[in-house]
Amino acid sequence: MALQSGNFGKNKMTGIDLFQSVYKGKKILVTGDTGFKGSWMCIWLKELGADVYGYALPPLTKHDNYVTTGLASKIQHLDGDVRDKEKLQAYFDKVKPDFAFHLAAQPLVIDSYKNPHYNFETNLMGAVNFFEAVRHCPSVKVAVNVTTDKCYKNNEWDYGYKESDPMGGDDPYSASKGCSELITHSYLKSFFNVEGTANIASGRAGNVIGGGDWADNRIIPDMIRAHQNNSELVVRNPNSVRPWQFVLEPVFGYLRLGEKLFTHKKQFSGGWNFGPESNANYNVNQVVTEVKKLLPQIKVTSPKTTEKLHEAGLLKLDITKAVMQLDWKPRLNFERTIAYTISGYLEELKAGTDVYAARLEQLKQYCN
Ligand SMILES: NC(=O)c1ccc[n+]([C@@H]2O[C@H](COP(=O)([O-])OP(=O)(O)OC[C@H]3O[C@@H](n4cnc5c(N)ncnc54)[C@H](O)[C@@H]3O)[C@@H](O)[C@H]2O)c1
Repeated sequence: MALQSGNFGKNKMTGIDLFQSVYKGKKILVTGDTGFKGSWMCIWLKELGADVYGYALPPLTKHDNYVTTGLASKIQHLDGDVRDKEKLQAYFDKVKPDFAFHLAAQPLVIDSYKNPHYNFETNLMGAVNFFEAVRHCPSVKVAVNVTTDKCYKNNEWDYGYKESDPMGGDDPYSASKGCSELITHSYLKSFFNVEGTANIASGRAGNVIGGGDWADNRIIPDMIRAHQNNSELVVRNPNSVRPWQFVLEPVFGYLRLGEKLFTHKKQFSGGWNFGPESNANYNVNQVVTEVKKLLPQIKVTSPKTTEKLHEAGLLKLDITKAVMQLDWKPRLNFERTIAYTISGYLEELKAGTDVYAARLEQLKQYCN
């Protein structure tokens, strides 16, 4: 049965600190802080009492979560490209972080077809530069690379991929994330395998949704744009099944993983899946139907052209390892995932809203 929001697990948890206070007073360097997931992660870390340092390209639009929440005035940030090895290293050397989370990436399948070279450079050499910076920065105790469910060789089968399944990727984005996993594995085996070196791991999450994501060609931002503009929503792949998750679910996973790597060290190295419950995978059509319950006026249509770039049709994650070993679990069922997401957008679209306060309120609701 899908879980409702609420406390769970061995430890009764209170407040937003689900991490034994390991982040309090620590320096945390987050690449990709100007992005959707990175900005939510920085809010959580900031509220945990961490000193947060971001490194990323500037936000793309004024609607981005980083901008609407005013995060720039709440954390330290350096504009920089992850392909710039020297600049990234210099930032690590200056900050001397305790933890590093790598979320900066080219994250879109369609964009990876448009510019595969940039996609591979950013996602492969970005990961290499991240681990090089960690390797040469002795203050770093924990480093987590964020990849995706698409890193697995997709066989279009009906069971969830396990961490031990082979890497793959047909489209350039998926292949680049499979490679990013192999890079993580290689650095783990070659450089971070002895005591005293940083404890490293990777997090593989599903399709992440939530307020503040305005990326092109993602179903929820496309629906919100259709709602705002009173335009028709073109649904590209209505039958594609995805592991939909509210943004705080994987962020909770990455932070829990960071906590375990800090407290138990190399025991928690390697790859970790963070997805919904096995019976909570829904297709695009079901997402559209659920959103339309809240925003009924959105008009939906099918693509007019027959041109189709390959994207996986069926993609599920097996989360048993994280549930059993990290004491992590999704806290929201599908209906609440969509409800949290839509209310996040409606809050930010309301004139005069303090978006940072609204995000914090959602964080508290999510945790309690
Ligand atoms: N959103 C999802 O559904 C989802 C699902 C699984 C995995 N992921 C992964 O999570 C991570 C974050 O994704 P997101 O949805 O927040 O994406 P996003 O596009 O909102 O944010 C991407 C971030 O990376 C930065 N970035 C991109 N290219 C860069 C470069 N060359 N140099 C420096 N910074 C660069 C951007 O400035 C931004 O801060 C990515 O690794 C993505 O692949 C996302």
